[in-house]
Amino acid sequence: MKRSHRCGSIGNEHVDTTVTLQGWVNRRRDLGGLIFIDLRDRDGIIQVVFEPERSEAFKVAQSLRSEYVITIRGVVRPRPKNQRTDRIQSGHVEVLADTIDILASADTPPFLIDGSIDAGEVSEDLRLRHRYLDLRRSEAAQPIVLRHKLQKAIWDYLDREGFIQVETPLLTLSTPEGARDYVVPSRHNPGAFYALPQSPQLFKQMLMMAGFDRYFQIARCFRDEDLRADRQPDFTQLDMEMAFVDQDDVLSLNEGLLRYVVSEVRDREVTTPFPRIPYREALDRFGSDKPDLRFGFELCDLSPLFSETEFRAFQEVLATGGAIKGLVVAAPEAERVSRKVLGLLDDHAKHHGARGLAWIRRTTDGFGGPIAKFLKASEIEALTEHCPHPGDVMLLVADQWSSACTILGAVRLKLIELLELEADPETLAFAWIVDFPLLEYDEEKNAFTYMHHPFTRPRDEDLDRLETDPGSVRAWAYDLVLNGHEIGGGSLRIHRLDTQLQMFAALGFSPEEARRRFGFFLDALRYGAPPHGGIAWGLDRLIMLLSKAESLRDVIAFPKNQRGQDPLTGAPALLDEAQLQELGLRIVNEQ
Ligand code: AMO
Repeated sequence: MKRSHRCGSIGNEHVDTTVTLQGWVNRRRDLGGLIFIDLRDRDGIIQVVFEPERSEAFKVAQSLRSEYVITIRGVVRPRPKNQRTDRIQSGHVEVLADTIDILASADTPPFLIDGSIDAGEVSEDLRLRHRYLDLRRSEAAQPIVLRHKLQKAIWDYLDREGFIQVETPLLTLSTPEGARDYVVPSRHNPGAFYALPQSPQLFKQMLMMAGFDRYFQIARCFRDEDLRADRQPDFTQLDMEMAFVDQDDVLSLNEGLLRYVVSEVRDREVTTPFPRIPYREALDRFGSDKPDLRFGFELCDLSPLFSETEFRAFQEVLATGGAIKGLVVAAPEAERVSRKVLGLLDDHAKHHGARGLAWIRRTTDGFGGPIAKFLKASEIEALTEHCPHPGDVMLLVADQWSSACTILGAVRLKLIELLELEADPETLAFAWIVDFPLLEYDEEKNAFTYMHHPFTRPRDEDLDRLETDPGSVRAWAYDLVLNGHEIGGGSLRIHRLDTQLQMFAALGFSPEEARRRFGFFLDALRYGAPPHGGIAWGLDRLIMLLSKAESLRDVIAFPKNQRGQDPLTGAPALLDEAQLQELGLRIVNEQ
């Protein structure tokens, strides 16, 4: 007996048809001498009825348990009126079973799959340990199906645009993307290690040098870094590169691609072009280089307003070139900014490195709050413009400019969370962050380091400052942001050997180190490289946002948990002695 239909596809049009269906027993109910089962497959659920008159089938049905795999054959009929439901696609019909075969029995699963309980009630580790059961739930399977559709749409669009898909090695040399490498020992070359790619960056650049002109790959990447809800140790990028392009070419191609894939997978219009926000402006207005544009609460700069302040803490910050940033919470939200909320925001600001979060509240005749007594008449007058209504609250952070911005940016997000402000779930607030600095100062290393990676092209007009004033050099780099997440990053690349050597020097690499690590790439640059640029999307993150999933783990078929482990297979695991010996390895610090 082979199946004739999928369970979820049966509808009124099949009434009186004989069908053969295969799937899992979602649930069995014995009612008034009849046995009902909900039969489930990938497409949905259908109700199957067994009547005692068909005694052989009825007897087998009595032995059915949840998750048994069965074949049934029977005739489709309308459900009695009072049993019809619109909750499932086949909710107006049922199948009266003639025959049944049990293809596999099943132990009682460690958690119910039938949709009657909330997945949140089951621990995530238990679900991941039995991910093959978890994925039988349609809510769990949906993001994986969306993922497939998205990848197909990407292929279709980029193929039409003349892109060639090329795979690049997984066993390779380190690529500097700012994380630690995962390394793989080589048995044939004792003591030597491959690195798993943090991205295919150098390979895609060499494909441009090879003349492919437009490349893409849905590429697996590996980064050993601190785990967060939107990070996985192995994750997937849509990686692409284009030759003979400028920044606008890359951005507008990506906008077209996003418009297409969102319309394919979510049936939604995305408005393009996306806002392009300079990096400095993003920090200034939102305190973040991945601003969540679904909400207001923009930051303002109050440094000029407090230039003559008598408040010591502000005075000191301004005297050392710092800034005072403010955020206004107006009615109706202001009413909910209680002392408790202010306390939590203060903790949050401190957690992000602030000495404290100052606040004032507009009263009918001035301002209240711990720092109100320091305000001068002129300051009160100016602040009144920011807080026009009694009850309005102003949150303030005084610090060096970038810290003041990022701390108040973190407070902004915490405020949104504490006030439980919800954005329209359908809103997709895309934006480009552009005009990044090429380098940033790393206090710990006491040196400049790259903001994206060392292959990012500096602006021509800034190049002569690379040695004298590295912090002021701007890059041709851009990030793609969606609803407060960085979902992509890219740049135009250095395509000239002299500029690449200059960049390595600015990063403090000696010529010997540059040659040792990137000699093959420097050689490649000698033989005529076209100007090129590209981007990589964090595909898992985009899918997480498009499928409204809560974590990256929900959109990956077999993800790692928050400790970087795979509860299903038990990876990572110890090696046995023989394997270690063969690889020439010894564990010196066994914990
Ligand atoms: P970048 O390092 O910005 O750029 O990575 C591109 C995008 O990948 C996603 N991402 C991650 N997603 C899940 N888990 C992780 N651990 C993780 N790390 C990064 C982010 C990020 O925006 N080679 C460059 C691209 C280029 O210049 O073309 C690169 O990898 O969404």
